[in-house]
Amino acid sequence: MDLTIIQGINNRIIFDSRGDQTVETKIETKVAKGVSSCPAGASKSSYEVQNIPTIGLRKALDNFNEIKKKLIGMDSLNQKEVDEFLLKADGTQNLSNLGAAIVLSTSIANLKAAANSLKIPYFKKIKDKDFYKLPVPLGNIIGGGKHAKGKSIDIQEILVFCTNANDIFEAILANILVYKKVAEILASKDPNFGGKNDENAWITTIGIKKSLEVIKEAIKYVRDKEGFNFKIGLDIAASSLWNEKKKVYEYRTEAIVLNEEQQLKFISDLIEEYDIWYIEDPFHENSFSYFSELLNRYKERLIVGDDLYASNVLRLKEGIKNKSTNGIIIKPNQVGCLTKLFETIEYAQNNNIIPIVSHRSGETEDTFIAHLATAIESPLLKTGTVGGERISKLNELIRISEFLKEKANINDLIRKFN
Ligand code: PGA
Ligand code: ZN
Repeated sequence: MDLTIIQGINNRIIFDSRGDQTVETKIETKVAKGVSSCPAGASKSSYEVQNIPTIGLRKALDNFNEIKKKLIGMDSLNQKEVDEFLLKADGTQNLSNLGAAIVLSTSIANLKAAANSLKIPYFKKIKDKDFYKLPVPLGNIIGGGKHAKGKSIDIQEILVFCTNANDIFEAILANILVYKKVAEILASKDPNFGGKNDENAWITTIGIKKSLEVIKEAIKYVRDKEGFNFKIGLDIAASSLWNEKKKVYEYRTEAIVLNEEQQLKFISDLIEEYDIWYIEDPFHENSFSYFSELLNRYKERLIVGDDLYASNVLRLKEGIKNKSTNGIIIKPNQVGCLTKLFETIEYAQNNNIIPIVSHRSGETEDTFIAHLATAIESPLLKTGTVGGERISKLNELIRISEFLKEKANINDLIRKFN
């Protein structure tokens, strides 16, 4: 009785993996507590809510301290009531008064407090089922764009995922083997090689196509040696390339300038030449029609909207109307609270749009997204390949699989592509 009632709430400013400030929140009930923190993006969509409040974290927390007492006495089981309180306390559409840093960390801390009070894992609190499917990690291997500050390839991410791993341990290991082999190959091909970007992906100046060749070579090596099969993914993050005034995509380090039709051809050629199965944000965030063109050509592959949707259900509805994508990136801090996020996920799944849960480039040690991906059957979890704040999520998947034993399997959607 009353075990799940909120008795205390505490916020503090902490640092993310880039060294930027964010918020960690602790919510306590009579018997347990929940702690969560909020990550931050660098290549953000203009449709995301604000992460950091306009008046700054310290002042916003002072304001929040005045009103947060009202959460005490609420039932942590009632996530909707807690989230509605938070949204009302902020009072703006884009969370400019409190920011996702405060609102999301509190929202997730509440879910964790509820789960811990009931002594159930977070994924079970998100969705109570008898059987779960673990996501396959989609690992960032070579990174560029805004995450490398112009010191690497122009596109943001070249990713891989393993299609024939027997369990989550193997799936994580497979990506790491490719990551390590890519470093070896790059060391022999790129005299400047050695650096990593914000997500711990390798950076290189050899260009997009040569980087893809390196990835292919590493994949072949790992396949021949260990028997793991892979598919390649790309996050173009095309909004960062888009010049709205000139209506062209600018690949600055390779000095390539493409109009929209040329971008469609460039992306299609990459898909065919390198058998790219996963492609995220190939066009800028308002280009619903070009996404549709691409999906129309490659219905079998995953065409995914990140900046296009910003995890926002209204944006997703626009995408469904236009038949723009068959996948949507799910990043909790893009919308700022769990209730809104769950609404987007449910709408996506009801309309056969595959949700792909993702980290941000500025991460904390919070492992919540591993639970989220497991709960909603996200076939892939985009959370890097190595690095403390990335590996923490991957290691959490290992713990989840151990907990579930035979009640979990790797997502079979991925096996289809083996
Ligand atoms: P971000 O990048 O976290 O810097 O926004 C990740 C992505 O675009 O997928
Ligand atoms: Zn993205």
